[in-house]
Amino acid sequence: MSDHNQTTAGFSHEKVETSNFLMILLILLVVAVGGLVEIVPLFFQKSTTEPVTGVQPYTALQLAGRDVYLREGCYNCHSQMIRPFRAETLRYGHYSVAGEFVYDHPFQWGSKRTGPDLARVGGKYSDEWHRIHLNNPRDVVPESNMPAYVWLEKSQLDPAALAPRMKALRTVGVPYTDAQIAGAADEVKGKTEMDAVVAYLQSLGLALK
Ligand code: HEC
Repeated sequence: MSDHNQTTAGFSHEKVETSNFLMILLILLVVAVGGLVEIVPLFFQKSTTEPVTGVQPYTALQLAGRDVYLREGCYNCHSQMIRPFRAETLRYGHYSVAGEFVYDHPFQWGSKRTGPDLARVGGKYSDEWHRIHLNNPRDVVPESNMPAYVWLEKSQLDPAALAPRMKALRTVGVPYTDAQIAGAADEVKGKTEMDAVVAYLQSLGLALK
């Protein structure tokens, strides 16, 4: 054996390199420490834990719309995360920041973009445009391959479903007041899923527009 493998008593690098168990254990240790150093501070930084000015919890109607968005799998084709690149900000507006999503449980960032990013679609079109588009996207965008969601207009919302949803969100930190929760049923009474999705879409990304 050559001289450079000889070490003083105690620690020998050869011991690590020739033992699978020790090697795996030490790699896991290094990765764990490296990961924690990157992740733990995020839980304590204002920029990632506090809402940017103007971000409000979803109203009962918007929240119902968000649930429809999840149920229909809109996130399979639409991201809600504008990356900090020039091509993105020119097309969509200000890049997304963590403070815009503090009330999103779970967030809808996504990565699949068959359709455009929706992070700042709020206010881009009229409510009427959205209704026509969701009923049959081809009526407003002839080349669109987005599916038609004809049933949204015919499905009534269940007013009793909202208060428990809002209470659950309150336990994970969304600051709903008792009055908002008590008024939820009245707010969505007689509304359709179409009304809800449109209200949700119109609320997206306004805080940093
Ligand atoms: C199969 C993929 C697919 C699914 C699923 C899908 N979309 Fe789309 N969406 C598209 C494509 C492609 C476009 C671009 C063409 C157009 O405007 O129709 C688009 C466009 C849009 C736009 C216009 C965005 C803009 O800035 O012009 C909105 C709003 C939208 N979709 C909402 C939704 C909602 C809400 C759902 C779920 C109910 C949904 N989409 C599901 C593919 C999809």
